[in-house]
Amino acid sequence: MKIAFSAPALPEQGVLVVGVLEDRKLTASARQLDQRMNGGVVRAMAASRFRGKKDQALAMVAPGDGGLDRVLLVGLGKAGDIDALRMQAVGGRIYAALGNQGHKAATVAVDAVDGCSMAPAEMAAELALGARLRSYRFGKYMTKEKDEDKPSLGALTLGCDGAGEARKLYGPREKVVDGVFFTRDLVSEPSNVIYPESLAAEAKTLTGLGVKVEVFGEAKMEKLGMGALLAVGQGSDRESQLVVMQWNGAGKPDAKGGKSKKEKKGAAKGDAPLAFIGKGVTFDTGGISIKPSAGMEDMKWDMAGSAVVIGLMKALAGRKAKVNAVGVVGLVENMPSGKAQRPGDVVTSMSGQTIEVINTDAEGRLVLADALWYCKERFKPRLMVDLATLTGAIIICLGNEKAGLFANDEELAERLAAAGDAVAEPLWRMPLGEEYDKMIKSEIADMKNTGERGAGSTTAAQFLKRFVDDTPWAHLDIAGVAWSKKDRDVVPKGGTGFGVRLLDRLIADHYEGK
Ligand code: BES
Ligand code: MN
Ligand code: ZN
Repeated sequence: MKIAFSAPALPEQGVLVVGVLEDRKLTASARQLDQRMNGGVVRAMAASRFRGKKDQALAMVAPGDGGLDRVLLVGLGKAGDIDALRMQAVGGRIYAALGNQGHKAATVAVDAVDGCSMAPAEMAAELALGARLRSYRFGKYMTKEKDEDKPSLGALTLGCDGAGEARKLYGPREKVVDGVFFTRDLVSEPSNVIYPESLAAEAKTLTGLGVKVEVFGEAKMEKLGMGALLAVGQGSDRESQLVVMQWNGAGKPDAKGGKSKKEKKGAAKGDAPLAFIGKGVTFDTGGISIKPSAGMEDMKWDMAGSAVVIGLMKALAGRKAKVNAVGVVGLVENMPSGKAQRPGDVVTSMSGQTIEVINTDAEGRLVLADALWYCKERFKPRLMVDLATLTGAIIICLGNEKAGLFANDEELAERLAAAGDAVAEPLWRMPLGEEYDKMIKSEIADMKNTGERGAGSTTAAQFLKRFVDDTPWAHLDIAGVAWSKKDRDVVPKGGTGFGVRLLDRLIADHYEGK
């Protein structure tokens, strides 16, 4: 959907959206329209339950004499409560109401609101962001769909004071949307299309934006000693891959990614990159500890963590973020076969630590063990954040509303939680602790890959913690939020892209140009 910004003027034809505040208080444009329609707006409200509340909308077919085809009244709620998230949600609701109604274009009038701290240009940029995010659709395999059944709305024009300013504000937001859409595409693709090598090839396309992308195959990973990651992929006919992406937007590019001269001299890691690590299990059957068949198709999106990292790199490069960031994703397919690892096998990770594989379905932590260690050793990053659809247990804890946050660093945890709240991708802090660490003690190796039934998400996080040393680190368990079974404000059902906007915001608020 194309987004445009123009000076405020009520159109004479087509589809028009105007805002109404709580208790049916009209915005300037709504009042103007009401006059033009001889009181039609006020009458329509009176004949309905629409009160201008934040989650309300009222679609009106415009009367014959007005010129307009359709009018949508959209509730803004209380003036004092209007903020960026509210405007994004309003944008999402507008798209939901108009996207599929046969109209190709619509105009939204965005007015200054008394008692609201946002300028119309800001309100318009946020509204546009929300509408665009909600307009996502993964329709490429629908070959029989008639045109009249496809979404129709292809253009949204926002009329507001300061249209130039709104356009400027929307620019970087649109680049972040591009990253989110890339993530949603990758998550939505089935596993016969997206497997380790093809996902690596998708990451490689970021080269065009100035991201340095390296792809390692199994031979290279064997040399590096990544026995944990490789064990997960060994039952699959697809070759496992490790992808390393570097965006050096703050300058000081260090092509090899090794230590800078300063660091070699033992100086502080001031110019070290931020690092993001993703679980990329392109399909998780469970392996020999095979999953039940009901719902197993969901395991096509067990690579969501890696897709978020790839989408984030796209967003950062797209908006030319002034930051040095590294993305590392471990890509494997977890299959049962005559070559697959067995329960009870002991594998040696790149760190040298040995792992007894009690359950081959606890594979994500094996992949991340080597990806985290590699990232830490090579880049000495300022911080590491990993994302993974790691445990079903986190869904038992938090449902599909919040992702689990585990961290060994208070400042990072607080910053992540705040960024999540700011973009409506909320996190909930979960515990780490020695008492849980004891639960993954093995009789034969340095650790085992599962604990007891209880605290399944925390024992998984404790496992990961053994591969980060004292690097400030956070782990986001996104198993409950990577996919949505229902439409949400700015997220249509399907792959959500949860994490891209959150991490982009974390970087923008705390690490850019710093
Ligand atoms: N990919 C799954 C976790 C998952 C479950 C993601 C549901 C999304 C939706 C992970 O690899 C897994 O199988 N975890 C096991 C761990 C257990 C064997 C210790 C789980 O959660 O059951
Ligand atoms: Mn699994
Ligand atoms: Zn998995």
